[in-house]
Amino acid sequence: MAIYLNNAATSWPKPKVVVERMADFISRTGSNLARGGASSRDIETLDLVTDCRVTLSRMFDGYLHQDPRYVTFTSNVTEALNIVIKGFLKPGMTVLTSSMEHNAVIRPLRGLEKQGLKVVVVKCDIDGRMSEFAFEREINIHKPDLVVLNHASNVCGTLQDLKAFCQICDKNDVPLVVDAAQTAGSVPISVSKNNIAALCFTGHKGLLGPQGTGGIVWRPDFADIVLPLIEGGTGSFSHQEVQPQKMPDKFESGTPNLPGIAGLKAALEWIESEGMDKVTKKADELGKKLLKELLRMEEVSLYGPKEMKNRLPIFALNFRGWDNAELAFELYEKWGIETRPGLHCAPLAHKTLGTFPQGSLRVSLGPFNTEGEIELLIDALSNLSKENRG
Ligand SMILES: Cc1ncc(COP(=O)(O)O)c(C=O)c1O
Repeated sequence: MAIYLNNAATSWPKPKVVVERMADFISRTGSNLARGGASSRDIETLDLVTDCRVTLSRMFDGYLHQDPRYVTFTSNVTEALNIVIKGFLKPGMTVLTSSMEHNAVIRPLRGLEKQGLKVVVVKCDIDGRMSEFAFEREINIHKPDLVVLNHASNVCGTLQDLKAFCQICDKNDVPLVVDAAQTAGSVPISVSKNNIAALCFTGHKGLLGPQGTGGIVWRPDFADIVLPLIEGGTGSFSHQEVQPQKMPDKFESGTPNLPGIAGLKAALEWIESEGMDKVTKKADELGKKLLKELLRMEEVSLYGPKEMKNRLPIFALNFRGWDNAELAFELYEKWGIETRPGLHCAPLAHKTLGTFPQGSLRVSLGPFNTEGEIELLIDALSNLSKENRG
């Protein structure tokens, strides 16, 4: 059995019910969304998708009393961010973002920069944290049309003080887009209380759903002014040759990932029934233990926050004498431990942490990790340190 410590890439394993519901959808329900008659299977599919929207709206405390229309399904958070960024920003506008962003944010912004968008990057500190003061100062100087912010770093787990940044955006009347790839399902987020314009999430990490799922929880007035990235058949308004403006159809052309949505819904219900706190508590406790040991090892250079407060159990490290790719290979070959070396699709974050271009080894915990697995990693690293000392 693999020792899986790469949950920031995708969580694994998934709750059993996710697998069961996906298989059930494919083998028994199987109909398309809004592209049938009114068979019981058609209605079941429609109910499934609507219920999943309602559950997402409830989990993220969406607007309009959990109105499901303002939840858009996408294939992942990358697509969600592209929809919002490319559908809102135009040449001549200014966007403000942080130096801890993933390429899912930076690449679309750099692409638009070539067409005349002004991109302002607020530098975070060596632990990947953005200061409220610097953020507000840059807002006052540049008066951005949009802010796009990472909630928690996929490289080193740093959690930004979202509430504080939301208040600053609110005060300055700037719409805020949040990349919640690493926090959705692990950290409670209220879209409506924080006046978030668009919360972009992926379904396959902390939400424990399958790959190929993700989405956006919108503030309605913001959704209304964003242009759709993809246009086509929606199973509705078929008399119209132009894209419908009604939600949720506006942003959802083409057949959705229905088995994925069935799995995501099962995962959300599993998190709700267990309680998000309980689901994340175990990984946080194991993270605390691992962090303590990592800080003790003199061969380990640890990047990002040195305490568990305001961070996720995602750790970035380098080990003296080892290239991080070789280290990942060795951990897997000798102990079956799966991690991720390199730059984690986040070169700007690594530049901020001082780990560019070599990157780091990322160890990321999930709800199904055990104490024994963390002890094995600690033993493995201790063994390597003995080898190093020769
Ligand atoms: C912060 C952040 N943003 C975006 C992404 C992209 O996620 P996805 O591949 O699900 O679109 C990731 C995935 O690692 C991430 O951690």
